[in-house]
Amino acid sequence: MAENWLVLDALGAAGEVGEALRKAVQGEAASRGVSCRFVTIPSSGLPSCRGCFSCWTKTPGQCRLADDGLGLSASIAASTAVVLLTPVVLGGHAPGLRLSMERAVLPNLLPYFSKIDGRSRHPNRYPSPPALYGIGLTVERDPESAGLFCSLVARNASNMRSPRHGAGVVCRAEGEAGAAAVVKSVLGDGVRPDARPLSIVALLGSPKPRGGVSASLANHVQAWLTGHGAVVRPFSLAAARQDEEAFGAMAEALGEADGAYLSFPVYADAIPGAAVEVLERLCAYRREIAPDGAQGFFAVANCGFPEPANCEAPLAMCRLFARQADFAWLGGVGVGGGGLYEGRPLSSFGFLSAAARRALEAKAALLVSPMPPDLAQTGDILIPCPLPDRVYQWMADRGWQKALGGKDGIRDALARPYAVPGASS
Ligand SMILES: Cc1cc2nc3c(=O)[nH]c(=O)nc-3n(C[C@H](O)[C@H](O)[C@H](O)COP(=O)(O)O)c2cc1C
Repeated sequence: MAENWLVLDALGAAGEVGEALRKAVQGEAASRGVSCRFVTIPSSGLPSCRGCFSCWTKTPGQCRLADDGLGLSASIAASTAVVLLTPVVLGGHAPGLRLSMERAVLPNLLPYFSKIDGRSRHPNRYPSPPALYGIGLTVERDPESAGLFCSLVARNASNMRSPRHGAGVVCRAEGEAGAAAVVKSVLGDGVRPDARPLSIVALLGSPKPRGGVSASLANHVQAWLTGHGAVVRPFSLAAARQDEEAFGAMAEALGEADGAYLSFPVYADAIPGAAVEVLERLCAYRREIAPDGAQGFFAVANCGFPEPANCEAPLAMCRLFARQADFAWLGGVGVGGGGLYEGRPLSSFGFLSAAARRALEAKAALLVSPMPPDLAQTGDILIPCPLPDRVYQWMADRGWQKALGGKDGIRDALARPYAVPGASS
């Protein structure tokens, strides 16, 4: 099939930036010699799907409603790529576009189930489903709705069994140049205009001077990313807190990076205060000096208690940081029983660290993927301590006991230096 793009244009009267998006899509198609047909989707869309499944059972492959929906299904089946141009509404497509896609896409799928990457899907009715690209327009910059929009397009693509997908969002303030840049990056299949390797910033949030567990976890991510062609630049939040120059270098590197991650210990149920102080300053810095482009961000929390639920609140804080600092949130990894991994590379723990390594690598993969992640990939992954609670507790107690032994004998773990004399014990 000769390459041909079907553009479902739900932008309506979207002003200069909307016009720039249309022009940029036409320009991209022309530059590749691809034919490109625009279909205007009215704000009311097609009459809603009735959920009767006739397109699978009574008239297989065709909707029973005899209207423009039939032509839309045919056009999608005959295209090599579908490009959605839409305002972003509640993080998703404009309702008119949703209505039209609900009507047009279902008939092009088969009713049967099949498993793809662990998730149930319907096979496509046709042997070569089109690629799917989504380009959204927002009034203001809003990384959370942009992230949601991109992940919805990824999920649509997986439902349609599209061989490739891409998505991006431009806001009105970014103007015509912003519109052209987003179209280029989305339709370019993530192929980067220059040949430089991906640049990722690793933020280390443990106040420990020599790394600790957070550094072990971060190092594992760094090794994986380096093995996949990225260049990783680590920065310590503790150092940035002490030194203005170090803060500036870190903030600048973050602005130019393609993505970032943060690894930190849980302190008193949250991100350590020293790290929060620097993260807050980073938010302010990035409000003044916006990053060069869209950037993904994930966080790794580790806690001393064996239950990874202790990482939930700190990871939720990281999600807020991502929103306020204009990163696309890729989710977090919460590692319970952090003490187990103290002092050695993560891989040296063999099967005991296998689940943690898998989770870290899954998040790292999102940073280097040219395609936006599906929503299911951006949730938090909680990894419990792999040892039975009693064993972990016994090891921890033994560790404290050993540390209590000074050269003058065992110190009193139960000492009460602030006990009020005469108060009942
Ligand atoms: C001041 C302080 C507060 C802590 N609070 C918690 C906590 O609330 N919950 C928890 O599970 N672990 C807590 N921990 C344990 C650390 O999260 C744990 O030791 C972690 O593995 C340290 O990581 P690091 O080596 O990267 O610094 C705390 C540790 C310190 C020093």
